[in-house]
Amino acid sequence: MIGVFDSGIGGLCSFERLNKIIKDEELVYLADRGNAPYGTRTRAEIISLAKRNIAKLRTLGARKILIACCTASGIYGELDEDERAIAVPIITPAAEAALNKAGKGGKIAVISTMFTAKNHIFKNEILKKDETATVTEYGEQLLVELVELGASDSALLPREAEYLDKLCGKITLSGAAALILGCTHFSHLAEEIKKRLGSIAVIDTAAL
Ligand code: DGL
Repeated sequence: MIGVFDSGIGGLCSFERLNKIIKDEELVYLADRGNAPYGTRTRAEIISLAKRNIAKLRTLGARKILIACCTASGIYGELDEDERAIAVPIITPAAEAALNKAGKGGKIAVISTMFTAKNHIFKNEILKKDETATVTEYGEQLLVELVELGASDSALLPREAEYLDKLCGKITLSGAAALILGCTHFSHLAEEIKKRLGSIAVIDTAAL
C-alpha cells in the first residue's frame, strides 16, 4: 500500500496522478481536514501533524508515503530517521524543475502557504543548487481557502478570476521565467494560472 497525505484536497491531484500509473498497489489518501489549514500553523504543530499522519498511514499498512503537501514537506528534515525512510517530500523535484526552466541565475517565483513562504522552503532549496538564482516568494494562504471552498479550473467565480488576474499580473511584472505552485492546492487552478502567465513556465508540485 502507498499512502498519500495533505491537509485537505490539494494532495488529491498527486493522488489522482499516482492512481493512473500505479496499478498493482493499493493507494490510500488521508486528508487531515480537521487540522487544516497547515500553512498558518507553527513549525512544531506541522511536525506533530506530519508525524501523526505518517503513523496513521503506517498502521493502515503503507510501505511508502507521499507527503503531498509542500508545507509538511518543508519539515521533512525534522522527522525521525524511520519516518524519513518511508516518507517522500516534494520540494526538491519542483526546485530542480524550476531551475531547469529558468536557467542558471534565472528568476523564479513561488506561490505557497504562509509557512512555506516565511520559512523560505523553496528559496533555500533553489539557492542550494544555484546561488545566483533570484527567488521571489508569495504567501498565498487565501488561495488555499478558495480552493477548499471549490475554486478550480472548472469552477471559477468572477471574484476568484479577478484575484488570479492580480496575482498573475504581479508575477509577470516580477520578470520571473518560472513559477512554482508551491502548494498542492494550487494544482486545482494550474490551467487558469497558466492561461494568465503566457510564456512563464509553471511547475506544478502535485504533478512531478
Ligand atoms: N496543500 C498544502 C501545501 O501543499 C497545505 C495547504 C494548507 O493547509 O495551508 O502546502
